[in-house]
Amino acid sequence: MTSIYVTRKIPQAGLSPLQDKDYEIDINPEDRPLTSKELLTALRAKPYDGILSLLTDHIDAAVFEAAPSVKVVSNYAVGYNNIDLVEAERRGVVVANTPGASTSAVAEYTVALILALTHKLIDADQFVRDGKYKGWDPALFMGTELSGKTLGLLGAGRIGSSAATALAKGLGMKVEYYDVVRNESLEKEIGAVFRSSVEEVLKEADVVSIHVPLLPTTRHLLNAEHFAMMKPTAILINTSRGPVIDEAALAEALSRGAIAGAALDVFENEPAVTPALLTLPNVILTPHIASATDVARNTMAIMAAQNLIEFFEGREVKNMVRS
Ligand code: GLV
Ligand code: GLV
Repeated sequence: MTSIYVTRKIPQAGLSPLQDKDYEIDINPEDRPLTSKELLTALRAKPYDGILSLLTDHIDAAVFEAAPSVKVVSNYAVGYNNIDLVEAERRGVVVANTPGASTSAVAEYTVALILALTHKLIDADQFVRDGKYKGWDPALFMGTELSGKTLGLLGAGRIGSSAATALAKGLGMKVEYYDVVRNESLEKEIGAVFRSSVEEVLKEADVVSIHVPLLPTTRHLLNAEHFAMMKPTAILINTSRGPVIDEAALAEALSRGAIAGAALDVFENEPAVTPALLTLPNVILTPHIASATDVARNTMAIMAAQNLIEFFEGREVKNMVRS
């Protein structure tokens, strides 16, 4: 019988298709990620055929060593930087993810973070709760408008393009982007302008939004030098992966006013946050929730299950990823 280890409870929408196939499914009973040691212990309990993992699990050589019978890992996430693909390929283990499932959710969340920052929404809410609202004031919580401003898009894949399209069509932003591949349909659709380097985008942008995968080439894609070349009025949004930004350098740049603000849904060493960020104004910090909608999480669950079913039925695994 096909047996699968699920590293943490996911929506039933993803468990049902596996149960319907009569696969044997063991789920981490804790409502938290397993430590690396606990994961190894859990996997040694049985000769599992597959793993349904979360982005909080490090699926590395030690895991493949502990579970030599595992032939497929399906990651409940679009990002798969938590999996050592080279090691998986060396051992012939197939890896798959959930591309597209969270596109709308993350794009919408990106827009929400930008608007919350430019209109000082979080501080204004706190002001009212603190009993400080004493009457209408012409200068209270002055924000900035996005119409006519430039979005600097780093990464023009599904999520980046979707966020840029909403900001261009809905809010009148101009878009400049950098990616390793050009996105000509985005250029046609919203007049996005391709720039051949991150630096060119940073110099022009009023709002910089990051939508790249975490790869060796994108780790610290933005560092101290980059913050120094941004406009002092610019804001930075990150809904991709924390290590794409040198977080200590960002905190430093924000505290000396090199840039005006930041909204981060992801952090370099999650769940830890660089302490200086916690005390800075004009910074919004949220706990990696950009894809936290019913639709996105259910779709992710269904796709993660589908990947496993395709594999075990000997079909093409459509969402297979390679190093
Ligand atoms: C969430 O961060 C994902 O990669 O799906
Ligand atoms: C950013 O703060 C902007 O001016 O839109």
